[in-house]
Amino acid sequence: MCSAKLENLIDIKSLSTEEISAIADRALEIKCGAKPLSCKEKHAAMIFFENSTRTYFSFEMALNKLGASVYNFETSKSSLSKGEDFFDTVNNLAAIGFDACIIRTSEEGLIKRTIEENQNGRKFFKKIALINAGEGSSAHPTQALLDFVTIKEKFSDLNGLNLVIVGDIRHSRVAKSNIELLNRFGVKIKCVAPKYFMDETIKNVEWCDNMDEAFENADIVMALRIQKERIQGIVEFEDYIKNYRITEKNLPKNAILMHPGPVNRDIEVTSGLLDSKRGETIMTQAHNGVFTRIAILEMIFQSQNGGANV
Ligand code: CP
Repeated sequence: MCSAKLENLIDIKSLSTEEISAIADRALEIKCGAKPLSCKEKHAAMIFFENSTRTYFSFEMALNKLGASVYNFETSKSSLSKGEDFFDTVNNLAAIGFDACIIRTSEEGLIKRTIEENQNGRKFFKKIALINAGEGSSAHPTQALLDFVTIKEKFSDLNGLNLVIVGDIRHSRVAKSNIELLNRFGVKIKCVAPKYFMDETIKNVEWCDNMDEAFENADIVMALRIQKERIQGIVEFEDYIKNYRITEKNLPKNAILMHPGPVNRDIEVTSGLLDSKRGETIMTQAHNGVFTRIAILEMIFQSQNGGANV
């Protein structure tokens, strides 16, 4: 059972290494049959300004398995569309009786700013947890946590593993959260991308534009979705497919293949590879998303109860 205290989930940076390990251990315990806590007095709002399949429904599934109540906040039908500010919206949800808001947004820093406003001046009516379900191009902490769980399941020791991240790293919140997390556990990370998808402000990784070179000794290959909605200008798909698409032929023999989804089939990875045995880890990631999010929600709801069972 997680004993760490977690009030919100902003990003990987704001989690201690102990909290990350506790979440992963608990997720794997639940996957192996441990019963989730009962959180039937808890109420969560799903505030999604961007589309989602995996994150939305695995949070909803996790809340159902915890016995909590889950409500969809329809952003276009809410009073945000009448000009209410986000802090006021969350505060009103707290007053109505919500315990958590699970937020997906394209607005960088929205979640942290709202939490800081509560700490530094305006006060929420009562405690309410804000959970990042994907924010802009910068952070997707629950995806990185479920990826960590998936890697831990496959490899007993992460220290010294070689991870290659391929593709649109510049626009990827998944890549940034994974780099932040996996660096802490001694994973060596190479990023391979064409110049237009590189972001050399990202630290503690080795940059490379040649996929064959990057794939030498790879234990894990993580493909990323090309984020068409965040790209200004033209994506050079032909060049990308020719030089960076992952195929049955170029995927190193002993490496596992990961992808956070959704996949642009035959652009990032060939359909043949996705539908083969070697594509199965991608479905395991989606499967592990539920256990990981149960562990996160348990930890947050427990901390609202002063560490006692929910
Ligand atoms: N990996 C991920 O965030 O997928 P969704 O956009 O479907 O939630």
